[in-house]
Amino acid sequence: MTPSDSAAPQTGKTPPPATCRTVDEILATASEDGRATLKLLGELVGNEPVSVATPAQFATRQLRLDPLSLASTRYTGPSTSLSILGNLLRLELEKHGDSVVIGSPGDGLPPTWSQLDLGLDQRGESRQLTVPGRLVAHFPAGTLAAAPLCVLIDDRHWSREFAILSATADKGVAETLLASFRARMKSSDNPLRGRVLQASLNEGCIRVGVSPAIDSRREGLILPDELWREIDVFLAAATSRRELLRSLGLGTNRGLLVAGPPGVGKTHLVRVIAASLVGQYTTILADANSMRHALADLYAESDTFGPTLVVLDDIDLVLGHRDSGGDNTALADFLATLDGVRQREDVLTIATTNDPKSLDPAAQRSSRFDMIVALPMPDAVTRTRILGRHLEPLGLAIDLHAMAEHLEGATGADVREVVRRAILEHGGSFTSEQLADIALSGRWRANVNRRKYL
Ligand SMILES: Nc1ncnc2c1ncn2[C@@H]1O[C@H](COP(=O)(O)OP(=O)(O)OP(=O)(O)O)[C@@H](O)[C@H]1O
Ligand SMILES: [Mg+2]
Repeated sequence: MTPSDSAAPQTGKTPPPATCRTVDEILATASEDGRATLKLLGELVGNEPVSVATPAQFATRQLRLDPLSLASTRYTGPSTSLSILGNLLRLELEKHGDSVVIGSPGDGLPPTWSQLDLGLDQRGESRQLTVPGRLVAHFPAGTLAAAPLCVLIDDRHWSREFAILSATADKGVAETLLASFRARMKSSDNPLRGRVLQASLNEGCIRVGVSPAIDSRREGLILPDELWREIDVFLAAATSRRELLRSLGLGTNRGLLVAGPPGVGKTHLVRVIAASLVGQYTTILADANSMRHALADLYAESDTFGPTLVVLDDIDLVLGHRDSGGDNTALADFLATLDGVRQREDVLTIATTNDPKSLDPAAQRSSRFDMIVALPMPDAVTRTRILGRHLEPLGLAIDLHAMAEHLEGATGADVREVVRRAILEHGGSFTSEQLADIALSGRWRANVNRRKYL
């Protein structure tokens, strides 16, 4: 018999049928123990704790504060910044592990951890760090700062947040701490800083990963000397002249547009430049999608890394000409973003294009690219030197000058293909005649003989 059954005759009222009673009615008549049991059952059956604390509730409880005196000092940075801040938080959790309490990030969810990919190590094995992804952590006074604080991190891309929760009276301490976290992102505590990274678009959000090692060296790319001098002038903004430019307020951000037909070494040149800046600048190689849809987000990553080189290879594939009648949104975004980049410090841009004429004149305006260099088709002397570079390790008696004449009109990429073909056909030993035969036959070209297959 239930308590309400036994109560009915005493009050003289007809109780509502059990099926019509609301939960509130049941709880109103239940004893305190009964209510606690029902609540626990609800949590177990519904698999959803009723008494979930939000990060703010967690913080007020841990900091022993009145909810009205809780202050939040937050930072919403570019997407990679949350992983890097997560890594800094990991370091602090390890340092103060014994005294830290970790809580739910809200919504009844347990704390979550994310993987920060560090690329391959020296032995070619991939390295990852497990860093806080979504959680709140309480650091008592004397650990992270003089005052007790909670740190909240949420790395989901639609609600990115890194916040320090403190007593209102300690807001100054929280602000100083947040500033030091932001400064540490641009230090050696950021394991991606100074490296070559590859950006791609994932669910509309920029994802940055470590690019495979670049070993493109200057000696491997044969270009006219005056061209290298121009490149050095460009690089001076990042190296020898950086401090002087900065002290005179002349800006350290520069844009270089590299133009030239396919196969003359544009991508190779960009890689040489990126490799020469490793350690000082973080290079972000943009793929076509991130160039087209998230260019501003890409540049925003300089907040995460400090000095940044943004590489936009083959921009002509993404940006058209205003008169071409195509989709001009990408071009308009590009122009606006590049103008915005002027406000940032220490950002270099290198873009490459096959045909500068295919770019809208506005994209080439000197205020957007400080320098435009055109890579020429290699002349006979350059072709001789490129052949020499590829053939030197084999130590063969090849007449390089004669071979370079046979390759009139060939690009550096073509010369490389001829040598590759010779090695595929003859191995590491061949004569001038055999090489000339390959060069003149054209069979090193990747031409598809369509008729043969139809
Ligand atoms: N001047 C050169 N000296 C040495 N190697 C060269 C030279 N030009 C091109 N190469 C070689 O040719 C290959 C292709 O070059 P790269 O990809 O840089 O050309 P690209 O100009 O970017 O072409 P595309 O417009 O098709 O992207 C690379 O392996 C590069 O090393
Ligand atoms: Mg290229």
